[in-house]
Amino acid sequence: MKTNIKKANQNSIKEAAALLNAGEVIGIPTETVYGLGANALDILAVRRIFEIKGRPMDNPLIVHIGKREDVFKYAHVTARDEDIMDAFWPGPLTLVLKKKDVIPAEITAGLDTVAIRMPENPTARAIINEAGLAVAAPSANISGKPSPTRAEHVKADLDGKIALIVDGGAAEVGLESTVLDLSSDKPVILRPGKVTASDLARWGVVENDAKYVSEKEAPKSPGMKYKHYAPNAQIVVYKGEREKIIAEINQDIEEYLFNSSRLGVIIDGEGELDRSDVHIYKIGSLEDEESVAKNLFAVLRQLDEDGIDVALVPEFRAQGIGKATMNRLLKAANYNIKEV
Ligand code: TXA
Ligand code: MG
Repeated sequence: MKTNIKKANQNSIKEAAALLNAGEVIGIPTETVYGLGANALDILAVRRIFEIKGRPMDNPLIVHIGKREDVFKYAHVTARDEDIMDAFWPGPLTLVLKKKDVIPAEITAGLDTVAIRMPENPTARAIINEAGLAVAAPSANISGKPSPTRAEHVKADLDGKIALIVDGGAAEVGLESTVLDLSSDKPVILRPGKVTASDLARWGVVENDAKYVSEKEAPKSPGMKYKHYAPNAQIVVYKGEREKIIAEINQDIEEYLFNSSRLGVIIDGEGELDRSDVHIYKIGSLEDEESVAKNLFAVLRQLDEDGIDVALVPEFRAQGIGKATMNRLLKAANYNIKEV
């Protein structure tokens, strides 16, 4: 199958909607990351999503809607849940709600809850509304790889496996949505994102800091137990005082170079580590958490393109969306942390 990338416009939106209605799986832009979308009520199309990504069947999918009132078709919603939708939809917040029977078990991995999101990205909503469907969409990467923030990332992972990728440019947020579990009285953040615990404080939200959930327990957020965002390069995250980190990295560079590793440094500042003997990846600025979030996945992919063996990373500022960025970085590093 030939995979076409088409710029977002009336024609590509119509074509995307027609493909979804024909049971096809396609790449669509959202404000968080690109999604691999299919008709959520078409069981065969949903199964294709899992096949194409190589995703374990016990990791449930997010259902994307184009209109707020569609949520009532698919889930049971309380007054509190509606308040939260009013505050954050459309936007990068996914709500886990008690599901209604129309949602197939393939979507929810057999859970009695369903994750629903109304994206902010106008192209995403135009495709969903033009199709007149609910669209199941995980991130459009091969399972275990960094999520795609550009159409070319989707093509790099899924070339030949899908007919169309609608190109809406670089994803504005760059990290996946916050996942908020509203299936019980106490709202719990299952995955951090742009919408933070403090944004949600008025609803008494708590954060679930579990790193991994063991194979045996039935995890609240099944996706959490899997390896994520991992480039081929080994990543080391340095934590501590900034000046000490920089000194330590400079020292470690000598050692790695002695062992002839292809070395990278991912850094959120300017000029602190300007050396010509390693690849320096500037990932936005220290003061601007949003720029770092937006660039992280693209930089992780670039490491592999450049054949980097080891990438050293001073921790990012964990404020606002920075907390979510650190969550993804630590997963990409397989929690390989050096405290200095
Ligand atoms: O920003 C996003 O959320 C992107 C774009 C495409 O919308 N999608 C995305 O999907 O990140 P995915 O499949 O890569 O991640 C979905 C996460 C997984 O961690 C999954 O376990 C969790 O949501 N999830 C889905 N349904 C759930 C449910 N019923 N209960 C708990 N967690 C659920
Ligand atoms: Mg994903």
